[in-house]
Amino acid sequence: MPARTQAALQGVGAVETAPADPPPCHVAVIMDGNGRWAAARGLPRVAGHRAGAQAVRRIVETAIRHGVSWITLYAFSSENWRRPAGEVLDLTGLLRHYLRNEVSELKREGVRLRFIGDRDRFDADIVADLARAEADTAGNTRLNLTLALSYGGRAEIVAAARAAAAAVRAGTLDPDAIDEAGFASLLSTSSMPDPDLIIRTSGEQRLSNFLLWQSAYAELLFLDVLWPDFGPAHFAKAMAEYARRERRFGARPA
Ligand code: IPE
Ligand code: IPE
Ligand code: MG
Repeated sequence: MPARTQAALQGVGAVETAPADPPPCHVAVIMDGNGRWAAARGLPRVAGHRAGAQAVRRIVETAIRHGVSWITLYAFSSENWRRPAGEVLDLTGLLRHYLRNEVSELKREGVRLRFIGDRDRFDADIVADLARAEADTAGNTRLNLTLALSYGGRAEIVAAARAAAAAVRAGTLDPDAIDEAGFASLLSTSSMPDPDLIIRTSGEQRLSNFLLWQSAYAELLFLDVLWPDFGPAHFAKAMAEYARRERRFGARPA
């Protein structure tokens, strides 16, 4: 890691937090570290997940202030179903609570909600609440907030491949006509720009099956902060770090 990057990531608030210019259009976040946050306090894991939900509220307000128009949050992976049943129940319970209690405020704030992932694995009442939240906020344009729920990047790509194969079989798609843009239009993110910046909290440095196709040229930022502690200062720091990155997309600067 370059020294200036290292310096920028240390001591939030101590280094300059100049706003990114222009800000990333789309910031995606792998919200990791809830369990470790709780363990450090001698609390049950669910307390960490609860604190993590509070941090979601903060990031929405902060993103709007920074002029970011798309935020995608990895809240539950397709692999998280493998966790002990009690924890899965806690997480789905929190999701239910979030949908019932936060959507009206998000709607007032001008947030448009979307959900990606295999939503049919959730209980029917949650599936209905997800659809209602999307419909109720469909007219909003201030911030596009997408929650990835029961989401897995590989499953998403396989589903798109299956859809393409079915169209070929039906005679409506010529295999030679499949290109990157056409394939991307079959993904759950078809209405969204690719992420410019992917932040992962908690110090882990992996994507854990998040936005595998869409992350091809995303800037990656791994922060040593546990998700429940992530606040406006960390977001500002991430914007400043993004502004220092040189994005080349494979080309060579003149
Ligand atoms: C992230 O926190 C929340 C989910 C994955 C649902 P974790 O629960 O993974 O917390 P750690 O990684 O165990 O600290
Ligand atoms: C990734 O975190 C998924 C979410 C943050 C929702 P995990 O904690 O599940 O990832 P691994 O298991 O450490 O890779
Ligand atoms: Mg984790």
